Amino acid sequence: MKQDMIVILDLGSTKNTVLARNIRDLGVYSEIHPHDITAEELKRLENVKGIILNGGENRIVDGNAIDVLPEIYDCGCPVIAIDHPTAKCDTCLSALPVESALKEFLFTQCQAQPNWNMKNFIADQVELIRQQVGGRKVLLALSGGVDSSVVAALLIKAIGRQLVCVHVNHGLMRKNESESVIEVFKNQLHANLIYVDAVDRFLDKLANVSDPEEKRKIIGGEFIRVFEEEARKLDGIDFLGQGTIYPDIIESGTKTAKMVKSHHNVGGLPKDLQFELVEPLKQLFKDEVRACGIELGLPESMVYRQPFPGPGLGVRCLGAITRERLEAVRESDAILREEFEKAGLDKKVWQYFTVVPDFKSVGMKNHARCFEYLVIIRAINTVDAMTATVEKIDWDILEKITNRILEEVKHVNRVCYDMSPKPPATIEFE
Ligand code: XMP
Repeated sequence: MKQDMIVILDLGSTKNTVLARNIRDLGVYSEIHPHDITAEELKRLENVKGIILNGGENRIVDGNAIDVLPEIYDCGCPVIAIDHPTAKCDTCLSALPVESALKEFLFTQCQAQPNWNMKNFIADQVELIRQQVGGRKVLLALSGGVDSSVVAALLIKAIGRQLVCVHVNHGLMRKNESESVIEVFKNQLHANLIYVDAVDRFLDKLANVSDPEEKRKIIGGEFIRVFEEEARKLDGIDFLGQGTIYPDIIESGTKTAKMVKSHHNVGGLPKDLQFELVEPLKQLFKDEVRACGIELGLPESMVYRQPFPGPGLGVRCLGAITRERLEAVRESDAILREEFEKAGLDKKVWQYFTVVPDFKSVGMKNHARCFEYLVIIRAINTVDAMTATVEKIDWDILEKITNRILEEVKHVNRVCYDMSPKPPATIEFE
């Protein structure tokens, strides 16, 4: 990393990431580190122009207020504290409005250059990836999700066909999703892409399995087996590319936060696949990952796609999955997405999808009784997916979507709109 850096030392604040984001928005790269970082470790970070001691509500650990090591003050760059002065630092950033105080600290006291932008990030990473990988090969599980797509595009820019992408179609993808992965990566970016059609294999394993947790386990476990089989067919792979992003690292690394989420690595690959990791996005927040994807030329539809659960449509085809109902979920979801896009709701609503339960209801079609499935529409807004509110959709739009689903989706005679916030409901049904 050649760019200037401001280091935030976590003294128990819950707003470390907000501060890091504010600094990056001002064009200066910023990282969060634990309060007990040593001067030696700090030196290894390179280009550190200033340090912010970020105190907060979790400062008391086991009855004592935590502090930084005294040697930190002698590291040769300005040190400033936020909120709880520390033993040696009584300068307080919050004396001024945050933005002007930050600007004064970054650009006057630290003399930091505002050179954090995606062009520079990509140029740096391309160089670092080439140094790390040399002439060897990298394997990547390319799901088509935002993170794996952006990693793939960045690795292709850096090492071209030394990257081997494996796209597993588990049959639970949305309409045209695998096709779009192939179109973008194989046809446009000329990626070395292995497409694995594992649809029958997954659906056979899932047949008659109705317990949601069991379904998730089968999907996750089977994914690893398919990926492992493909990896073993390949020769000379030394590296595994991963879409790890900055929140994954800080959420698993904090020493003061009360809620610690474990760092999930993509696909949960088996330990006996001995690879070195390549994680070029591990410094980026989600919106920076998207900006990076756009800069690399990925289509907006891929980069701005809404969150999609790993088990895919499998958790939206409720109960034991059947091909008939899975198709109804896929087709109704495609209609919903198309109409949301037309109405501009795709940019406004955080997550929206359809669900098909495993029961039928009575209806009338062509003057005759029918007994068919129902489609539930769900559209929610949230900041962090921990709580969610329901989007108040215009009645005319809902009516249009309903009519299209009833006309175009086979085996469906009823459409409902889910009005439940989270809590008590979760966003997904399973
Ligand atoms: P819930 O249903 O727990 O969902 O309110 C919160 C958010 O997480 C997504 N989700 C998942 N994402 N693997 C994922 O990668 C999963 O197994 C999974 N389950 C739920 C869900 O879509 C929502 O955005």
